[in-house]
Amino acid sequence: MGLNAELLQSSLAVVAEREPQITRRFYEHLFARYPQVRPLFSKNASHLQQQMLQEAIVAVVEHVEDAAWLDTNLRAMGRKHVDYGVTEEMYDWVGECLLVTLAELAEEAWTPEVAAAWTEAYGAIRGLMLAGAAN
Ligand code: HEM
Repeated sequence: MGLNAELLQSSLAVVAEREPQITRRFYEHLFARYPQVRPLFSKNASHLQQQMLQEAIVAVVEHVEDAAWLDTNLRAMGRKHVDYGVTEEMYDWVGECLLVTLAELAEEAWTPEVAAAWTEAYGAIRGLMLAGAAN
Protein backbone atom coordinates (compact mmCIF):
# COMPACT_ATOMS: atom_id res chain seq x y z
CA MET A 1 0.00 0.00 0.00
CA GLY A 2 2.98 2.31 0.42
CA LEU A 3 1.53 3.62 3.65
CA ASN A 4 3.53 5.13 6.46
CA ALA A 5 3.48 2.15 8.81
CA GLU A 6 5.64 3.75 11.46
CA LEU A 7 3.47 6.86 11.78
CA LEU A 8 0.26 4.82 11.85
CA GLN A 9 1.57 2.45 14.49
CA SER A 10 3.08 5.10 16.73
CA SER A 11 -0.02 7.32 16.62
CA LEU A 12 -2.34 4.38 17.31
CA ALA A 13 -0.15 3.45 20.29
CA VAL A 14 -0.51 6.98 21.70
CA VAL A 15 -4.28 6.88 21.28
CA ALA A 16 -4.62 3.38 22.76
CA GLU A 17 -2.60 4.37 25.79
CA ARG A 18 -4.79 7.40 26.49
CA GLU A 19 -8.08 5.71 25.79
CA PRO A 20 -8.19 1.92 25.80
CA GLN A 21 -11.74 2.08 24.44
CA ILE A 22 -11.09 4.00 21.25
CA THR A 23 -14.19 2.65 19.60
CA ARG A 24 -16.53 3.74 22.39
CA ARG A 25 -15.75 7.35 21.49
CA PHE A 26 -15.95 6.44 17.82
CA TYR A 27 -19.52 5.13 18.16
CA GLU A 28 -20.54 8.20 20.16
CA HIS A 29 -19.44 10.39 17.24
CA LEU A 30 -20.91 8.07 14.62
CA PHE A 31 -24.35 7.81 16.22
CA ALA A 32 -24.48 11.55 17.00
CA ARG A 33 -23.59 12.58 13.44
CA TYR A 34 -25.27 9.74 11.53
CA PRO A 35 -28.07 8.34 13.71
CA GLN A 36 -29.48 6.56 10.65
CA VAL A 37 -26.77 3.85 10.96
CA ARG A 38 -27.73 2.92 14.52
CA PRO A 39 -30.35 0.31 13.53
CA LEU A 40 -27.68 -1.62 11.59
CA PHE A 41 -25.89 -2.45 14.82
CA SER A 42 -27.97 -5.05 16.59
CA LYS A 43 -26.51 -8.51 16.29
CA ASN A 44 -23.83 -8.11 18.92
CA ALA A 45 -23.86 -6.46 22.31
CA SER A 46 -22.25 -3.11 21.76
CA HIS A 47 -19.23 -3.80 23.96
CA LEU A 48 -18.46 -6.91 21.88
CA GLN A 49 -18.86 -4.91 18.69
CA GLN A 50 -16.52 -2.24 20.06
CA GLN A 51 -13.89 -4.81 20.91
CA MET A 52 -14.09 -6.38 17.44
CA LEU A 53 -13.72 -3.04 15.70
CA GLN A 54 -10.79 -2.08 17.88
CA GLU A 55 -9.10 -5.44 17.22
CA ALA A 56 -9.75 -5.03 13.49
CA ILE A 57 -8.11 -1.59 13.43
CA VAL A 58 -5.11 -2.87 15.38
CA ALA A 59 -4.80 -5.90 13.06
CA VAL A 60 -4.92 -3.73 9.94
CA VAL A 61 -2.27 -1.37 11.30
CA GLU A 62 -0.08 -4.34 12.28
CA HIS A 63 -0.36 -5.72 8.74
CA VAL A 64 -0.09 -2.41 6.93
CA GLU A 65 3.01 -3.58 5.06
CA ASP A 66 1.54 -6.99 4.23
CA ALA A 67 -0.38 -6.37 1.01
CA ALA A 68 -1.49 -10.01 0.66
CA TRP A 69 -2.97 -10.08 4.17
CA LEU A 70 -4.78 -6.78 3.63
CA ASP A 71 -6.10 -7.86 0.27
CA THR A 72 -7.54 -11.16 1.53
CA ASN A 73 -8.89 -9.95 4.85
CA LEU A 74 -10.29 -6.56 3.85
CA ARG A 75 -12.05 -7.89 0.78
CA ALA A 76 -13.66 -10.62 2.92
CA MET A 77 -14.66 -8.04 5.53
CA GLY A 78 -16.15 -5.78 2.85
CA ARG A 79 -18.17 -8.70 1.53
CA LYS A 80 -19.60 -9.40 5.03
CA HIS A 81 -20.49 -5.73 5.45
CA VAL A 82 -22.87 -5.90 2.48
CA ASP A 83 -24.93 -8.33 4.53
CA TYR A 84 -24.89 -5.93 7.48
CA GLY A 85 -26.59 -3.36 5.22
CA VAL A 86 -23.52 -1.15 4.82
CA THR A 87 -23.56 1.07 1.71
CA GLU A 88 -20.72 2.93 -0.01
CA GLU A 89 -21.57 6.37 1.41
CA MET A 90 -21.43 4.95 4.96
CA TYR A 91 -17.71 4.35 4.47
CA ASP A 92 -17.26 8.12 4.24
CA TRP A 93 -19.22 8.64 7.45
CA VAL A 94 -17.21 6.01 9.29
CA GLY A 95 -13.92 7.40 7.95
CA GLU A 96 -14.85 10.89 9.10
CA CYS A 97 -15.78 9.69 12.60
CA LEU A 98 -12.71 7.48 12.91
CA LEU A 99 -10.40 10.39 12.07
CA VAL A 100 -12.26 12.79 14.37
CA THR A 101 -11.92 10.26 17.20
CA LEU A 102 -8.22 9.63 16.62
CA ALA A 103 -7.50 13.37 16.35
CA GLU A 104 -9.38 14.05 19.58
CA LEU A 105 -7.53 11.35 21.51
CA ALA A 106 -4.09 11.94 20.00
CA GLU A 107 -4.24 15.67 20.83
CA GLU A 108 -0.80 17.20 20.17
CA ALA A 109 0.44 13.96 18.59
CA TRP A 110 -2.08 14.54 15.75
CA THR A 111 0.30 16.32 13.38
CA PRO A 112 -0.50 17.06 9.72
CA GLU A 113 1.71 14.11 8.77
CA VAL A 114 -0.19 11.74 11.08
CA ALA A 115 -3.53 13.04 9.76
CA ALA A 116 -2.37 12.49 6.18
CA ALA A 117 -1.16 8.96 6.97
CA TRP A 118 -4.56 8.02 8.47
CA THR A 119 -6.51 9.63 5.62
CA GLU A 120 -4.48 7.63 3.14
CA ALA A 121 -4.74 4.41 5.15
CA TYR A 122 -8.51 4.69 5.54
CA GLY A 123 -8.86 5.38 1.82
CA ALA A 124 -6.93 2.19 1.06
CA ILE A 125 -8.99 0.14 3.56
CA ARG A 126 -12.21 1.55 2.12
CA GLY A 127 -11.08 0.70 -1.41
CA LEU A 128 -10.32 -2.93 -0.57
CA MET A 129 -13.52 -3.41 1.42
CA LEU A 130 -15.61 -1.91 -1.40
CA ALA A 131 -13.80 -4.10 -3.94
CA GLY A 132 -14.76 -7.12 -1.81
CA ALA A 133 -18.32 -5.80 -1.53
CA ALA A 134 -18.61 -5.61 -5.32
CA ASN A 135 -17.93 -9.34 -5.76
C1 HEM B 1 -12.37 0.54 8.51
C2 HEM B 1 -13.52 0.00 8.14
C3 HEM B 1 -14.25 -1.02 8.98
C4 HEM B 1 -13.75 -1.97 9.83
C5 HEM B 1 -12.29 -2.27 10.14
C6 HEM B 1 -14.89 -2.69 10.38
C7 HEM B 1 -14.81 -3.76 11.27
C8 HEM B 1 -15.85 -4.55 11.65
C9 HEM B 1 -15.74 -5.81 12.36
C10 HEM B 1 -14.44 -6.45 12.81
C11 HEM B 1 -17.00 -6.30 12.55
C12 HEM B 1 -17.36 -7.61 13.26
C13 HEM B 1 -17.84 -8.68 12.34
C14 HEM B 1 -16.98 -8.95 11.13
O1 HEM B 1 -15.79 -9.30 11.26
O2 HEM B 1 -17.50 -8.80 10.00
C15 HEM B 1 -17.91 -5.34 11.95
C16 HEM B 1 -19.28 -5.46 11.93
C17 HEM B 1 -20.14 -4.46 11.52
N1 HEM B 1 -19.77 -3.26 10.92
FE1 HEM B 1 -17.91 -2.72 10.41
N2 HEM B 1 -16.04 -2.14 9.90
C18 HEM B 1 -15.69 -1.12 9.04
C19 HEM B 1 -16.56 -0.31 8.35
C20 HEM B 1 -17.91 -0.24 8.59
C21 HEM B 1 -18.80 0.74 8.02
C22 HEM B 1 -18.41 1.81 7.01
C23 HEM B 1 -20.02 0.51 8.54
C24 HEM B 1 -21.25 1.35 8.26
C25 HEM B 1 -22.04 1.80 9.20
C26 HEM B 1 -19.93 -0.66 9.40
C27 HEM B 1 -20.95 -1.29 10.08
C28 HEM B 1 -20.90 -2.54 10.67
C29 HEM B 1 -22.08 -3.29 11.13
C30 HEM B 1 -23.52 -2.81 11.03
C31 HEM B 1 -21.60 -4.49 11.66
C32 HEM B 1 -22.44 -5.62 12.29
C33 HEM B 1 -22.81 -5.17 13.67
C34 HEM B 1 -23.68 -6.15 14.41
O3 HEM B 1 -23.59 -7.33 14.11
O4 HEM B 1 -24.40 -5.68 15.30
N3 HEM B 1 -18.62 -1.07 9.43
N4 HEM B 1 -17.19 -4.30 11.42
